[in-house]
Amino acid sequence: MTGESQIGEDIKPLDPNSVASVVRYGSLRHTLSHEATGYSLVYNQLYPFQGLQNYTSGIIHHVRLTGLEPGAQYYYQCGDPSIPAMSAVHAFKTMPISSPQSYPNRIAIVGDLGLTYNTTSTIDHMSSNEPDLIVLVGDVTYANLYLTNGTGSDCYSCSFPQTPIHETYQPRWDYWGRFMEPVVSTIPLMVVEGNHEIEEQAEHKTFLSYSSRFAFPSVESGSFSTFYYSFNAGGIHFIMLGAYISYYKQGEQYKWLERDLASVDRTVTPWLIATWHPPWYSTYKAHYREAECMRVEMEELLYSYGVDVVFNGHVHAYERSNRVYNFSLDSCAPLHIMVGDGGNREKMAIKHADDPGECPDPLTTPDEYMGGFCAFNFTTGPAAGKFCWDRQPDFSAYRESSFGHGILEVKSCFHNLNSLWFSYLL
Ligand SMILES: [Fe+2]
Repeated sequence: MTGESQIGEDIKPLDPNSVASVVRYGSLRHTLSHEATGYSLVYNQLYPFQGLQNYTSGIIHHVRLTGLEPGAQYYYQCGDPSIPAMSAVHAFKTMPISSPQSYPNRIAIVGDLGLTYNTTSTIDHMSSNEPDLIVLVGDVTYANLYLTNGTGSDCYSCSFPQTPIHETYQPRWDYWGRFMEPVVSTIPLMVVEGNHEIEEQAEHKTFLSYSSRFAFPSVESGSFSTFYYSFNAGGIHFIMLGAYISYYKQGEQYKWLERDLASVDRTVTPWLIATWHPPWYSTYKAHYREAECMRVEMEELLYSYGVDVVFNGHVHAYERSNRVYNFSLDSCAPLHIMVGDGGNREKMAIKHADDPGECPDPLTTPDEYMGGFCAFNFTTGPAAGKFCWDRQPDFSAYRESSFGHGILEVKSCFHNLNSLWFSYLL
């Protein structure tokens, strides 16, 4: 990013073409023999009424490097050599080749980060584990927990009851980017959207900061969308799904998911991992069964292709399921792991829906951005006829209310068999 963002009533967007987008790179620190040119953009966050401060971003540069070797280290610097203004030299490592025998050493899974003391603790601990890849499962900066005058709030739903459009303080994105630069300048980060990235503004535009600031392999994975895509990390195929756009069977995302799943060659990428923001199998009271319509629509497809693990965020706690399909234990079904506790300023989720007196009214559970009502009473099992269990459900293996992050590893066992290891770390 170059130039300064502006916030106020009289903002003038910068000219994105006023600075070139160039990356010089190579395998030797002092010989950056390759050069790639990209494109640049600015985005605005505008409100259709008086009294709020509009925002226009600095110039955001995107440059795509092609022809990189797998599993190799590259050095790079970015900027505009004609000014001249180039960054310091950074280094990153590409993902290993897609093969059942090659994997990143460690993959960090983190969600619901924000920018608080808990965030810095999480990112410090995560960095000390030296991951080769970071997967961010949505809710990035929580800029929409701040008014345009920068005043913060701890409660999304109760703080802005009167405004026709929810305010956001977009400089939080700039702060977050500066905070994360030492990490993301050296470690690849893949992100999928959460509800805090919706950030509705004038003309009902949404997700503008999210879609402008991050890069997505959308074309490469045939989705052509910033909201859902897939990629390989060695022998793992990751599928990133959007929960706040159409997930219905007749929609583009579902059709793309069918195509993507059908194209996965498990002899090349034996592990299949799916990721989206709001969990299907959280037992916490907060957001309880909120994503039920998405589960009803998509679960069978993911199950039929043998997805191994699902990662989610959204609920501010940790929970790991047993293998579960349609709320029943099933040894062929995915594990669901929720790490929605990176450190944001909202409250930690503590109460469970199965705690005495804590089962929510079903009609309060849908999310306005996620479609209709699908969370009916259970029809089978110990909770048949009820909306909540009266004890920790058998599909819930472990749950803990704390801030932390996950580390995923593929470890080789005897006879070339690999196994997936997941650690939850505070
Ligand atoms: Fe969320």
